[in-house]
Amino acid sequence: MSENPYPNYSPGLQGIIGGVTKISKIVSDTSSLTYRGINVHELAENGSFEETAFLLLHGYLPNSHQLSDFKQRMAAESALPDEVISALGLLPKHMHPMDALKYAYSLLAGFDEDYEAMDHDANVRKGERIVAKGPTVVAAAYRIMNGKEAIAPDPELSIAANFLYMLHGEKADDFTVKVMDASLTLYAEHTFNASAFACRVTVATLSDIYSGIVTGIGTLKGPLHGGANEKAMEMLLEIGDPDNAEEWIRSALAQKKKIMGFGHREYKKRDSRAIYLTKIGKEIGERKGETKWGEIASTLERVMETEKNIHPNVDFPAAYAYYLLGIPIELYTPIFVIARNSGWAAHAIEQLDNNRLIRPTCIYDGAEGVEWKPIDQR
Ligand SMILES: CC(C)(COP(=O)(O)OP(=O)(O)OC[C@H]1O[C@@H](n2cnc3c(N)ncnc32)[C@H](O)[C@@H]1OP(=O)(O)O)[C@@H](O)C(=O)NCCC(=O)NCCS
Repeated sequence: MSENPYPNYSPGLQGIIGGVTKISKIVSDTSSLTYRGINVHELAENGSFEETAFLLLHGYLPNSHQLSDFKQRMAAESALPDEVISALGLLPKHMHPMDALKYAYSLLAGFDEDYEAMDHDANVRKGERIVAKGPTVVAAAYRIMNGKEAIAPDPELSIAANFLYMLHGEKADDFTVKVMDASLTLYAEHTFNASAFACRVTVATLSDIYSGIVTGIGTLKGPLHGGANEKAMEMLLEIGDPDNAEEWIRSALAQKKKIMGFGHREYKKRDSRAIYLTKIGKEIGERKGETKWGEIASTLERVMETEKNIHPNVDFPAAYAYYLLGIPIELYTPIFVIARNSGWAAHAIEQLDNNRLIRPTCIYDGAEGVEWKPIDQR
């Protein structure tokens, strides 16, 4: 990164307070992440993604009656309009599923019965519909773009189980569903990250919540943000064998390469989500008798820590956990969308509940007093 000559400017807005939130909190020193005050490890271990989504959207944990109603609403809202399914068939087959998601959510806005409503309750209802449709959109887009028929959601299944069912056409075992569910909880929300902030900027103009979600998806796609989980798996596949790992990482660092799935703006020690998922990723490897990804990961983690004091973030263990579960690599970032829809919607609602246009200032560093020249004199 080049030297910053401006004392009042923080490149990348590092350390700048971008707003006030009640949704989630990161404590870097203790590697802790809480959603509405509750530790994410507890939510991932003991709760379900549905409880997490409810917590983020409504602000409190549901009781059994509220959770059961919420699950019914999720089931009722999970199917896609036929028009959206047909429209997904028009997309170029080489398009990344993240681009298909931007398109699908743009269309879904027009099918929402609260399309024009902007009050708090309407925004919560829209947030719920956005979350409910996440697994269906991702699975349908992937299947259609791969020349297969979309599979309708099963109203009896949880969000995690339904996604795996609609993706593969058969119900997943309990362990696979539990891992998927926990990963959705861990991916659901993360304070003022780039996509949540972008989502807030969008709705702060009094644009609608779907526009905020589309902004969020576009922002998440990049490899410095959500796209890192796909790039991390491509890197692990390139390394291929634990015996290659040490030489590979040392050579990459010597070439000043960015190692995908490592580093974080907010955590200077371990990413709290990565601590949880590393344990799970290694457990899946042992259950499946395929421990090599965990072994390669351990070498990379050791060298990154000793050489750079940089630790894995959530995207690193998520990559090999999803790989071991048989998820196609181009769906790793879209799965992040299934989860993060709940966090983005919570941010959009919070922003709109107490809105002020977000419009920072900047330092002008360009030419001054340039003389206008008619076109034939340029
Ligand atoms: C997440 C990330 C964008 C945070 O960026 P940031 O706070 O702006 O920090 P920077 O990119 O400026 O990095 C600061 C220093 O650490 C180094 N660094 C940070 N992440 C690194 C990584 N993954 N691999 C190698 N070096 C890294 C940078 O090269 C830089 O070193 P320098 O000061 O010698 O130039 C960054 O760590 C990164 O690019 N990680 C890889 C992508 C990724 O996994 N993203 C998902 C995040 S959840």
